[in-house]
Amino acid sequence: MSNQLKNQILHEKRARSRLGGGAERIEAQHKKGRLTARERIDLLLDKGSFREIDAFVQHRTHDFGLDKQKFMSDSVVTGWGTIDGRLVYVFSQDFTVFGGSLGEVHAEKVCKIMDMAMKNGAPIIGLNDSGGARIQEGVVSLAGYADIFLRNTLASGVIPQISAIMGPCAGGAVYSPALTDFIFMTRNTSYMFVTGPDVVKAVTHEEVTQEELGGASVHSEKSGVCHVAADSEADTLYLIRKLLGYLPQNNMEDPPFVPTGDDPLRMDEALNDIIPDDPNKPYDMKDVIRLIVDNGQFFEIHENYAQNIVVGFARLGGHSIGIVANQPAVLAGVLDIDASEKAARFVRFCDAFNIPILTLEDVPGFLPGTYQEHNGIIRSGAKLLYAYCEATVPKLTVITRKAYGGAYDVMSSKHIRGDFNIAWPSAEIAVMGPEGAVNIIFRKELEKAQDPAQRKAELVAEYREKFASPYVAAERGYIDDVIEPKETRPRLINALEMLSNKRDSNPAKKHGNIPL
Ligand code: HXC
Repeated sequence: MSNQLKNQILHEKRARSRLGGGAERIEAQHKKGRLTARERIDLLLDKGSFREIDAFVQHRTHDFGLDKQKFMSDSVVTGWGTIDGRLVYVFSQDFTVFGGSLGEVHAEKVCKIMDMAMKNGAPIIGLNDSGGARIQEGVVSLAGYADIFLRNTLASGVIPQISAIMGPCAGGAVYSPALTDFIFMTRNTSYMFVTGPDVVKAVTHEEVTQEELGGASVHSEKSGVCHVAADSEADTLYLIRKLLGYLPQNNMEDPPFVPTGDDPLRMDEALNDIIPDDPNKPYDMKDVIRLIVDNGQFFEIHENYAQNIVVGFARLGGHSIGIVANQPAVLAGVLDIDASEKAARFVRFCDAFNIPILTLEDVPGFLPGTYQEHNGIIRSGAKLLYAYCEATVPKLTVITRKAYGGAYDVMSSKHIRGDFNIAWPSAEIAVMGPEGAVNIIFRKELEKAQDPAQRKAELVAEYREKFASPYVAAERGYIDDVIEPKETRPRLINALEMLSNKRDSNPAKKHGNIPL
């Protein structure tokens, strides 16, 4: 056989491999409003950077007539490429081949690319679109999932792992994305659930659609399983690119420094007027974030879930930071179960990947009530406390207004290794709010008072004067400084740079026992 013919065969094989399940199935995929595995990779990566491997892999199964249906590459496309010039590894499930189902060789391909990502210290991105375990391959498929779960777990905290759900993701298959750091979902065309609508109906008699059970809205608003929901596949992939810009390649690197052109000394007068005169009036903490960070750009995580706390990434003087901020505009910024867990996981991600944490604090305390107590606010609040306590990255805290009770301790206080803790003059640092405090400590006096309302107002004013200010804490060095709000940006950038060589560690141990 001539070399020319050999090359021709190679090109024909490659072309066949690229067709996946064939033109008809590609058309069916498009008709569902979905792209193919390879089209998605092209949108995700820098143009022309993708290098596919294992394009000639085929399954080895004979049962149920599978030996008569072979597709090169099987039901997943794997390889590497770049995003903004930085290496990433990718697997993209191909629904046009056996519905993207995962059998032996599909799992082998995913494991191989995950192993490469780990060895070479670069993020792994999984684009999920699959009918789950390949039914014809039985327990071999289940074994393949377990091989992936193990790798997800071992890679956790070593390389960033990002999942996009772009079609079905059902059954035990959900647990691979669930073990990764961030789950992105596309609205209306993707869903995730452990058991589908038919099983739900049989077991609980509930009638529910796939979208209602596990669509992007449900998981980004109610369950919190999804971190970022996007309107289209293109948007989903674009947002993954954006997120990676804030992250290091692995846990041994610092996040990328990207000069943004925004003056590090910029002061914003608007910050001086942002806190309302009435301490019970809300304001939007996201306005504070936008006025402080480089060019007002904030990449929010869990935007529509537990909105009483805000988390996400931004830059300060070009340095990547993670922000955790109480949101007084939602439930007065109170800490409840969902907010505590949302923030705890985010803090741990930042700490694992050397991303400094900025905490913006305005919190009236933990949410009271039987629902919260019965569902474990003690355990959930402890998660957030634990996450902040164990974090050794630079920790900056700005108390903008309320820092009440246990929440004062939890939100990156000096006592749990906060590195730079400052307050605005509007800060109120106390065991509890003035009204509640006066009701408790002056109950007897108020019962006897001739005009209880008048007396209470006086006592509240007295309490506020004494405790509801930053100066008692400042006198003790619990906060390092009180600053004018407009100075916040330059002071934080200065502190970040001061802390750039920070070294801190935790006692040697196998691992801690976070209250899960
Ligand atoms: C083998 C599968 C498959 C699977 C789909 N296909 N799922 N083949 N194993 N799990 C095949 C179909 O036979 C079909 O082949 C092609 O993929 C496209 O599927 P359709 O059903 O035509 O597509 P659609 O109507 O869009 O429905 C998609 C779907 C449905 C909702 C995902 O296919 C479905 O319900 N699949 C089964 C889901 C499931 O129960 N999986 C097991 C979950 S348990 P042809 O040749 O006809 O085009 C699990 C355990 C993991 O995953 C445990 C890990 C711990």
